[in-house]
Amino acid sequence: MSISWLLRTLPAMSGELARFDTDRTPAEPRELFLRWFGEAVGAGVREPHLMSLATVDDQGLPDVRVLLLRDVDERGWHFATDRRSAKGRQLTARPDAALVFYWREQGRQVRVRGKAFDLGLAASAADFLGRSPSSRMASLSSAQSDVMSDKSDITLARQEAERLLAGNPDFVPESHAVYALAPVSVEFWQGDPASRRHPRLRYRRSAESWVKELLWP
Ligand SMILES: Cc1cc2nc3c(=O)[nH]c(=O)nc-3n(C[C@H](O)[C@H](O)[C@H](O)COP(=O)(O)O)c2cc1C
Repeated sequence: MSISWLLRTLPAMSGELARFDTDRTPAEPRELFLRWFGEAVGAGVREPHLMSLATVDDQGLPDVRVLLLRDVDERGWHFATDRRSAKGRQLTARPDAALVFYWREQGRQVRVRGKAFDLGLAASAADFLGRSPSSRMASLSSAQSDVMSDKSDITLARQEAERLLAGNPDFVPESHAVYALAPVSVEFWQGDPASRRHPRLRYRRSAESWVKELLWP
């Protein structure tokens, strides 16, 4: 079986999907995101807090990876990572970034674009110390995105991290960072395979307010 044939046999947007009335939406996108997020949890969407984060490297080449959403507030969409990682270095050089959520069980996609900024030491410490011991140990012992010269390096790094945490349980590595992506546009997309109209609503930041626009599917 060829891959192109296999791909054509696979369904997309199957099952009972959610609906989206674009005439009944709040003035700002965070409120709609929180509403949709609650609906995703209620609908049993698996891992609705996973999102893809796109950044741009110093050659202008886009990069993308999956992360966990850590919070959403007036500053933006938060994620935690190692500031020395590829994405951390990319964001330091160029904060332009984008996020996408896909909630398959509902046929929903949310896209967020803007600039990401570091929320500072207090936010990093609160995030790090709120983690389980195993998560702290894993993060402490990782030189995220560096080339690993030998597989055994990770075992040695774990032992060192274990020793460090045993002696100082409140230790927070400088490399742990929490970023907020401050949105300039947020788009809500609802799959509607029967009509193929796929309602799309984009909130665009304009001075102190948000402009809402419908987009062609
Ligand atoms: C389900 C899932 C959740 C993840 N959550 C995070 C996360 O919250 N933070 C993080 O730094 N990496 C997370 N990762 C790993 C990233 O996708 C990525 O491999 C790592 O951050 C290195 O990316 P970079 O080399 O582009 O910096 C997650 C991966 C998966 C598949």
